[in-house]
Amino acid sequence: MSQSARPASDAPPPFDLGARLSRTPAASGDLTHRKLMPALYNLALGQLLPPEMAIVGVARTAWTDDEFREEMRVAVNAHSRSGEVDPDVWKGFARRLRYVTAGFDDPAAYETLRDLLRGLDDELGTRGNKLFYLATAPDFFPVIAERLGAVGLSGESDGNFSRLVVEKPFGEDLESARELNRRLEGVFREQQVYRIDHYLGKETVQNLLVLRFGNAIFEPLWNRRYVDHVQITVAEELGVETRGGYYDQSGALRDIVQNHIFQVLSIIAMEPPARFESRDVRDEKVKVLRAIPPITADEVDLVTVRGQYGEGYIGGKPVPAYRTEDGVAPDSNTETYVAMRLYIENWRWAGTPFYLRTGKRLPRRATEVAIQFKSAPHLPFADTAVEAVVPNQLTLRIQPDEGASLKFAAKVPGPQVDLRTVSMDFQYGSSFLKPSAEAYERLLLDALLGDSTLFARWDEVERAWEIVEELLKAWAANPIGEPNYEAGGWGPDAGDELLARDGREWRRL
Ligand SMILES: NC(=O)c1ccc[n+]([C@@H]2O[C@H](COP(=O)([O-])OP(=O)(O)OC[C@H]3O[C@@H](n4cnc5c(N)ncnc54)[C@H](OP(=O)(O)O)[C@@H]3O)[C@@H](O)[C@H]2O)c1
Repeated sequence: MSQSARPASDAPPPFDLGARLSRTPAASGDLTHRKLMPALYNLALGQLLPPEMAIVGVARTAWTDDEFREEMRVAVNAHSRSGEVDPDVWKGFARRLRYVTAGFDDPAAYETLRDLLRGLDDELGTRGNKLFYLATAPDFFPVIAERLGAVGLSGESDGNFSRLVVEKPFGEDLESARELNRRLEGVFREQQVYRIDHYLGKETVQNLLVLRFGNAIFEPLWNRRYVDHVQITVAEELGVETRGGYYDQSGALRDIVQNHIFQVLSIIAMEPPARFESRDVRDEKVKVLRAIPPITADEVDLVTVRGQYGEGYIGGKPVPAYRTEDGVAPDSNTETYVAMRLYIENWRWAGTPFYLRTGKRLPRRATEVAIQFKSAPHLPFADTAVEAVVPNQLTLRIQPDEGASLKFAAKVPGPQVDLRTVSMDFQYGSSFLKPSAEAYERLLLDALLGDSTLFARWDEVERAWEIVEELLKAWAANPIGEPNYEAGGWGPDAGDELLARDGREWRRL
């Protein structure tokens, strides 16, 4: 987080930071409707966008500029955290919206786009700055990058910038990720590429850095001497909804673990960076990933568990089995649940297990990190009612109910010495009067300002693939079999056994 580059929400907009630009999402898709356009509108509402900015949508759907504006107004009304659009703010915002009907494979379309962007430079003073947001299927990433390069849109000159924001998934295994990166690198330098992981835009994830490095009391305990183990959970109540086709090709390991969970893990476990600046923070994060030995074929069954949900009940309502969801193959081998145990082999963490789990159709939606501390070394309560004390636990809730809580032992009032576990709670919702910005708002603004701290660097992505490479191969060679957990349950029994073998259990959420 570069604080120097960040305008306070009530500060004037960052007009003088070179952020006069044109920006192009693939404009008719789900992400643009639900996330990107609402985020851009909310930035405009907060006066965080420069007035010289234009937003140019590109897709095949045939729309005029006005039809695109109307479509986006409906999308913002439906999905923005700030509710219905403010008519005055929308009027100014809608003026910035343009649309180009084009196929990504069509070289002439890129010339049209380049000419439009040049026109906007003259008309709106966007000064040749460009941010290309590839809100489209990853298969198109290389071809779009190469065609942008071919018409001269990837170059940076005279202090102008040209940046490329790419969505996940970044490859589907080590080899495809390297190939994708090689092709992007052929056109855009690493510093121009912003690999977005929206988890890093969440306040609580950023707060992990503040909690650890802005307070003196946690960091001395944040190591193998005091931490028994760490659990990271990303539980989803939902199934695949409308994205069955995508998910069935991807699965829980690629969709959540390799990117979101590894990103959170690296923030939890990293060394303090010298400064909150892009290079320093990302250097420390990648060191964590490098200290995790890749899972070998021999240990797959020992340290990982996969599952797929069958039919079941959630909230009292019946839900279908994964294999009968729209877009999913009836004999699908895709995992909807993953649990694993990893070790970070460095001085801080040697011997401290990190347990990771994610799953769809679990009983509730919850993303959190639990730091389980070791037991007190000695209990001086002989001849009292105290038999055992539950060890301290620090829980960092990423979603929903963002916040943190610390469990510790307290004396039950009365003449006897008896202890009970109580908790100290911090909730974003009630502690700050301001609602949190959406992750995409923060990340889009950072990309506009050129702050890549919260974006994944290529070496992080590559290392994350290296860690799971053999696991992916082993799972691909070995079909998953029948569904092994009921929708609405906490995953397969083997997920519990993974921890039980170490004498531990998953935190009950
Ligand atoms: N949706 C999410 O919640 C979500 C979450 C995380 C990551 N992502 C990632 O974000 C990216 C976009 O996802 P999405 O859900 O928005 O996908 P989507 O709904 O399928 O949208 C794809 C967009 O690309 C356009 N497009 C497709 N083929 C094209 C072609 N040949 N030429 C020009 N335009 C073309 C589509 O418009 P036309 O059909 O009009 O051409 C549409 O605007 C993907 O990489 C996805 O993995 C999405």
